[in-house]
Amino acid sequence: MSHRVLTGITTTGTLHLGNYVGAIRPAIAASRAPGVESFFFMADFHALIKCDDPDRLAHSSRAIAATWLAAGLDPERVTFYRQSDIPEIPELTWLLDCVTAKGLMNRAHAYKAAVDAATAAGEEPDANVSMGLFSYPVLMAADILMFNAHKVPVGKDQVQHIEMARDVGQRFNHLFGQGRELFTLPEAQVDAEMELLPGLDGRKMSKSYDNVIPLFEGGSAALRDAVARIVTDSKLPGEPKDPQGQALVTIYDAFATSEQRVAFRAALRGGLGWGEAKQQLVALIDGQIGPMRERYAELMAHPEKLEATLQAGAAKARAIAVPFLKTLRAAVGLRPYTDTATTAVARAEKAALPVFKQYREADGRFYFKLLSADGQLLLQSSGFEQGREAGQWVARLKREGLVADAPVQREASDVDIAAALAAFQES
Ligand code: TRP
Repeated sequence: MSHRVLTGITTTGTLHLGNYVGAIRPAIAASRAPGVESFFFMADFHALIKCDDPDRLAHSSRAIAATWLAAGLDPERVTFYRQSDIPEIPELTWLLDCVTAKGLMNRAHAYKAAVDAATAAGEEPDANVSMGLFSYPVLMAADILMFNAHKVPVGKDQVQHIEMARDVGQRFNHLFGQGRELFTLPEAQVDAEMELLPGLDGRKMSKSYDNVIPLFEGGSAALRDAVARIVTDSKLPGEPKDPQGQALVTIYDAFATSEQRVAFRAALRGGLGWGEAKQQLVALIDGQIGPMRERYAELMAHPEKLEATLQAGAAKARAIAVPFLKTLRAAVGLRPYTDTATTAVARAEKAALPVFKQYREADGRFYFKLLSADGQLLLQSSGFEQGREAGQWVARLKREGLVADAPVQREASDVDIAAALAAFQES
């Protein structure tokens, strides 16, 4: 199986330049690498924990989806979906809830911070804690474990949650796996790219510090305004400046080639004025963000296109989640009465295994078909001159799923076909 990378963004606001540089851009770049299977999603169930404004949540989800696509994400190549379109995730959350120690959740940073704040304000410790907030890490574990992700790119503040997902997954494997690793244990990936972009005041760029440069909102005018407010020292044009430690320079670096970085520093040392430097920074950023901003506006103006993309993504995600949850349900004992206790797990797995049949017809040509485990015809190929060609297509479909140019006729729904093909990648 290829290497699976998964990450989500909570849909409570719009994104700023720091989110783009720290999360979106590296995630999209990594998704283009061979052998990587990426899963990106809008964590809108997570958003409910902190946001009780329905319109804000809905707008944020749409804006974040449009941002991913505008920034160059290829939804054909990755699995791109809304968490709330996958009902198997809350169901898995419950299975995991039942094996998660409350004591483990008591140690979660977000929960402890809420308790500390309440206590400091002289309130009951749990005054501001919903069950959603308390069990936030279990929902996140379900996000990750559902797709057996190997790597989860996140900011430093989320590393604890990935460790909790490992703990919970391991415990589930131990209790119900009968020696099998039902869940892959994920690893957090906090690489240099995730290092935080400084904000206008030099602290990390963050909504809560009110120091952000917007990504798309407000157009290039808002970009120019924000850049104008980046704090610098008070050296005048013509005076040599020390580029070291300047937020302006760090932000410049995030968009520059190494030659540009060298030249910009040399210009500052040579007396380039801050005003002129800021204009260069705006031009540099806008050169990269400008075309994306246009695509973003286009997507925001056509919610039906976005919706269709997300529906297709949900079908792709569910093609994995539905059969996997079936296996998990059987593993914990949620089984049809006709399955006996000892065979249910094995049977659920077997049931998930479809077959390719290759054969030659009276016309002398070679064919293959894909049958579901219960014998239903899912795909029918056209005829090939060479048996080898048919074999190569079978191998490719097993490896890559239903690629667009496959010489096959679909005989069942896309979801059934994708689910059957996904089973080959798991095995
Ligand atoms: N909790 C993450 C955040 O606020 C978002 C998130 C939800 C997530 N589920 C995830 C990130 C699964 C990675 C994997 O940033």
